[in-house]
This record gives sequence, C-alpha cells and structure tokens, in this order.
Amino acid sequence: MKTDKNRVYIFDTTLRDGEQSPGYSMNTEEKLILARQLERMGVDIIEAGFPIASEGDFEAVKLIAKEIKKSQVAGLARANKNDIDRAWQAIKGAVHPRIHTFISSSDIHLKYQLKKSREQVLKEAVAAVKLAKSYTDNVEFSPMDATRSDRDYLVEMVSAVIDAGATTVNIPDTVGYAIPEEFGNLIAYLFANVKTMGNTIIATHCHNDLGLAVANSLAAIRNGARQVECTINGIGERAGNTAMEEIVMALKTRKDLFGLYTKIKTEQIYKTSRLLTQITGIPVQPNKAIVGANAFAHESGIHQDGLIKEKITYEIMTPQSVGISDTHIVLGKHSGRNAISHHLKKMGYLLDDEQINKVAARVKELADVKKDIYDEDLEVILAEEIYRGEDKYSLVYLNVVSGNVAIPTATMEMQIGKDIVRKAGFGNGPVDATFAAIRNITKTNYPLMKYVVNAITGGSDAQGEVTVQLKHNNHSVVGRGAHPDVIVASAKAYINALNRMEFLKDNIKKVKIVE
Ligand code: KIV
Ligand code: ZN
Repeated sequence: MKTDKNRVYIFDTTLRDGEQSPGYSMNTEEKLILARQLERMGVDIIEAGFPIASEGDFEAVKLIAKEIKKSQVAGLARANKNDIDRAWQAIKGAVHPRIHTFISSSDIHLKYQLKKSREQVLKEAVAAVKLAKSYTDNVEFSPMDATRSDRDYLVEMVSAVIDAGATTVNIPDTVGYAIPEEFGNLIAYLFANVKTMGNTIIATHCHNDLGLAVANSLAAIRNGARQVECTINGIGERAGNTAMEEIVMALKTRKDLFGLYTKIKTEQIYKTSRLLTQITGIPVQPNKAIVGANAFAHESGIHQDGLIKEKITYEIMTPQSVGISDTHIVLGKHSGRNAISHHLKKMGYLLDDEQINKVAARVKELADVKKDIYDEDLEVILAEEIYRGEDKYSLVYLNVVSGNVAIPTATMEMQIGKDIVRKAGFGNGPVDATFAAIRNITKTNYPLMKYVVNAITGGSDAQGEVTVQLKHNNHSVVGRGAHPDVIVASAKAYINALNRMEFLKDNIKKVKIVE
C-alpha cells in the first residue's frame, strides 16, 4: 500500500464482523450486491468473510474476490495453517487480495481461552504471518483483545509480526473496553516503542460496548492510526462496531481539526445504509447519526427559524453530502410562524401576517392531538381558515350497485347552485364508479393524486374517513369526508375537494401563489 500520511484507509467489515451478529446474516447474492455498493462508494478494503467458517462463507468470499476489481478483498483467518490456506483459496482470484490473520494477545484470553503461554502465541503469530506472506504481500495481523493486553507484550508481538512481513497491524478493542484518551495513548505508545514500524499501517477495530467505538477510532487516528475498520450502520458483534458513516463524516466535517481525508464518496452513504437495512430487514434507530430518519429533521421552533435564515445555524453538514435530498422541517407544536410561512411558500402559498397568525394558531391546536403535521393537514387548515367560500356542489342522493357479477354503477343526484343534476357513472369498483358519476355531473376531470381511507373507530361498524387530493396546474386541494359507508364518505370527500378547487380558481388572484 502506498503511504500518504494524510489519508485514512477505510476497511469495511460489514460482511464479516457485521454479518456474524444476530439477525444480520445474508446469502451469497445479497453479500455480492452489498460488496458492489461498497466498492462503488470507494471502500479501500472489503473484508468479505471468514472463509473457514462454513462452505457458504467460503463461496461468498470467493465470488466477491472474483467480482470486485477496485477495492482490496480481505479474507479472515485464525493464526493457523488450515485457516490461512482456506482464506487464500477464497481470495486468490481477487485483483487486490489481502489475508487478515489474528490471534489473541491478552493474558485473559491466553489463560482462559487459548491455554497457551505468551511465547507460544508469539511464535504462532509470526508463523501465521510468514505463511500468509508466502501467498501475498498484502498481510494484515490483529492481536485480538489488544486493549486488555500487557503493553510491552503487545509491542513485542507487533514488532515480531512486522519483522515477519505484516504490512498492516490492526489494534482491536475486541470487547469495547477502551476509553478514547487511553486508546489514543496506546497507539502513541506503539509508535514510540515499535522500532521497526517503518511504513506499516496501524489500524483500529473498535467495538461499541460502551458506546465509544467511533470516539476510540478517532482518538487512534489522532495518534497516527491510518486505517479504520468499521461497518455500515455500525452493525457488528454485540453493540456493534465503529460506524463507517460516522467516522467518514467526522473526518470530513472536522477536516479543520484532523487535516485528513478518506476516499469515500460520501454521497453514497445513505444509499448504502438503506441497502443494508433492506437486505437484512433491520432498520436503523431514528436518531442514529448521519443515516437515521431524524438525522436531518428539525422540529424545534428556534432551530427551524435559524435554519430558514441560514442553514449553517443548526446544520454542521448538508444532507446532500451524505446522499439525502433535503433537510426535513417537521411541522409540529414547536414550529413558529416563520417555519410555517416558509413551508407554505414551498407548497405554493404566500400568506400575509394576519393569515399566517390564523394558520399558526390552528397548527398548534392540531399538534396537540396529532404529532406531525403534513401538507394535507395544512391544505385543510388553509381551506377552512383562509380560502373559505360558499359550497358550489352538494350530494343529494347516491345509489351504488356493485359485486362480483355486476358492472359497478353509481347513480347520483347533486345540487349545483340551484339546479339538481342526476347522472350515472361506471368504473372498476364502487368508488371508481362514484367518482365517474361526480365527474359526469360536474363536468370536471382533475387528476386524482391521492385517495386514502381510514377507520376513525375500530370494528366493522367503524366510521370511515376518506381523504381525496385533486390537482390543478401547480396546485392541489384536499377534501375530507366521513360516513359509516365508505362509498358515501368517498363521494363527500371528492365533492369537498371540488368545492375547494372552485374557491381556489375563483380567488386565484386573491390567493397569492408562488410561481
Ligand atoms: O473484534 C475483534 O477483535 C475482531 C478481530 C478478528 C479483528 O473482530
Ligand atoms: Zn470485531
């Protein structure tokens, strides 16, 4: 690996450490799809799996090694001949293969798990690196549980594996035990005491048991580490691994402090995160940094006000920089007049101060019973508070014939001004036929943008509430109707929308529309 001291290499282990955690297993095809996306986003090294673990793992690593051309492809192996041979068989077809071999270095692991002496483990580490080196120049070694290891033994092991040919030495905080300052000091200690460090890349691999994986990785970087092992969405063993999106965006956003860079195309971050959640079916928590649903959503009135004036007031990075289309201003009980007015402007309505006050008061009332206020809610408020007129249309009579042997037919009588008009309509179902009858009677044909039915109460006798949205040029109107018969509720909603549309058209000059 050519060294550029300001570049931080991104080693993604979503397909290995991430995949081995409960609920995240993926089949070969899914692993390949994700590997291709990791390559597209510019990951330097993809740890594709642990080939000795199973036939399926072996085949997946082999396929990824064959298909991925730009990123390095690493296979994991314990420090023994069987594992290393198997890893090499899996990755040897890669353009840039890497063997990643590991053995524990902490006395806790040596005593209780390996039941071997320090000397024995050191010998096995060196032999493993030498064997891996006989297959490829690109060898990574990890002393597992490094953060609970004796520092001088760690220095001895790191020095020995570098002498044996390791080009990258990874310092894992296997059990997520380290604290940032302490971990940073450990990395500095290795740089100060390993005499043969040369061009070796020191890597970090942090687990999140104390919620410190990203902070520990950053502390290591501050002290000279130049490879970060991480996963998409921070998935991984137990509480997970360092989240790639957080590390990458921390380095990018705080370039002033770190002065470092990665080759990750950050605009691909959100897409990659979504791909993983779609494959595994496990969503990220809404408040997850960078990729959570609320990461760029603002509900505080004060923040909304600041953002509208200048984004930098409350946003340290743009949503676009991680591939999210825009900041999301959530209208709710904390929203102020400025945020409401700004939002209405985006919807196409320009209101004066008095009108904004009226709408803001209604938004507050509604927000007490309904957490989020959507555009449809605002349309209804506008129609009721601002753009209210005499209804032109009303329903007099509706009869619908439907079923699996009849062509759905609606016969309807409506009052239009002083006139009573009766007509029929046919359709694919009773609602379609009803809407056709209304269009015939009113001689209108606005595109139907939305049709939603909700039960206001539970049970089969529930009152149905229907929302209908119609479009006219740049504007849409929403109508609502409620009735125990959903077909009647649908007719009422459609007619309600038509009445609002009539008002909008008649008052088009009074309603200031933003072009
Ligand atoms: O957490 C860990 O120590 C590991 C090693 C295999 C690097 O995953
Ligand atoms: Zn791990």
